Amino acid sequence: MLGGALGAGVAKAMEIVVALGNIYGAADLVALSSAHVSGVSYKNIGQAGLDFLEEWVAEGARVRCFTTLNPAGMDTEDWQHSDMQTEPAFAAQQIRILNAFRDLGIDNIVTCTPYYVNNEPKRGDHVAFSESSAVIYANSRLGAYTNREGGPSALAGAIVGRTARYGFHLDENRRADVVISVKAKLPDTTAFGVLGFLAGKLLQNRTPLFVGIEQQMSSEDHKMMGGAMAAAGGVALYHVSGQTPEATAQDDSIIAPHAEYITIDNLADGYKALGIKAGATPIDLVNFGCPHVSLNEMREIADRLAGRSIKARLWVMVAPHVAAAAAKEGISQRIRASGGELTLGACAIVAPMKQTGIRSVATDSAKGAFYHSSYNGLDIHVGNIAQCVEAAVTGMWLG
Ligand code: F3S
Repeated sequence: MLGGALGAGVAKAMEIVVALGNIYGAADLVALSSAHVSGVSYKNIGQAGLDFLEEWVAEGARVRCFTTLNPAGMDTEDWQHSDMQTEPAFAAQQIRILNAFRDLGIDNIVTCTPYYVNNEPKRGDHVAFSESSAVIYANSRLGAYTNREGGPSALAGAIVGRTARYGFHLDENRRADVVISVKAKLPDTTAFGVLGFLAGKLLQNRTPLFVGIEQQMSSEDHKMMGGAMAAAGGVALYHVSGQTPEATAQDDSIIAPHAEYITIDNLADGYKALGIKAGATPIDLVNFGCPHVSLNEMREIADRLAGRSIKARLWVMVAPHVAAAAAKEGISQRIRASGGELTLGACAIVAPMKQTGIRSVATDSAKGAFYHSSYNGLDIHVGNIAQCVEAAVTGMWLG
């Protein structure tokens, strides 16, 4: 591959994989069972990124393992009618990017929750994922092995079907550097996100073991906690005592000898830092789905809407496959009947937002709150699904 026998595109991909292996001292390569590639929105990668992808296609590159894509900067199924008000010039370039990925052999499954569609690695699988919330979910909740790849390195790995064996592909690098004793109350999934946000700030890129979380965490709890931890810090792996695959035993071999011990007593600082404000405030948008919603979350949103009409705008960001499953149960229809929109395959964070006129957002996601504020400069309110649905119905954040 490196010598060009399989074409210039494959050689370029292998050069990237080998260069990373050399930088990090990898002894060999390991076969990938799947990959997940970020860097899909035209807002993020721009013309240079598009040219790079089209050149790779022209050089004959094709993926060698099952690969999914991160969200785009617009609704990938129906951008013309979307409340995101995507401009045609942006859409044209976004479609070229999706076409280039399709020509690379990627099936245009566009979501940041690939594990809710059909890219759910098993324990011990080696994968190359490059969406930080999907990386941390695969490593931590699923017990798969992935480094925190960039978009080009995940794609290069997919094209050669291998990655360099270093970092989180090695068991000795997966032990906890920090033990976090959780004393804070965790009443809902949003609270897990706020815990992740606080932990990410403290950890930067270290690996924690959480102890003291008594309730059984759901997939959504892991998704929100990991997503916020990876966004606020650079965390790629965490363990939860008695719950994640590598921390189930009663022994402490998962803890590194040099580990630091800290306690998180409550979440008040996290909610405050994410933008809790006193008093009722009008809001423009309620945004669910950072990372993309599960079928369970869609069900809860529809149930809480209970047929009422909304006053604020409501976007539920979701993988097209999950939306299709929800439509079979009538859930998608119920959300739309209340005035909500399913934005399919889209991410509001990496979408152009100026033209929408939206200035204030309520969300159930600590990661979403953090990025809507830091990337898009929006006013933020964060609360659980029930609070956010009430905000959508009344048009007011009620605190
Ligand atoms: Fe997904 Fe965008 Fe949030 S990619 S995790 S919705 S920032």
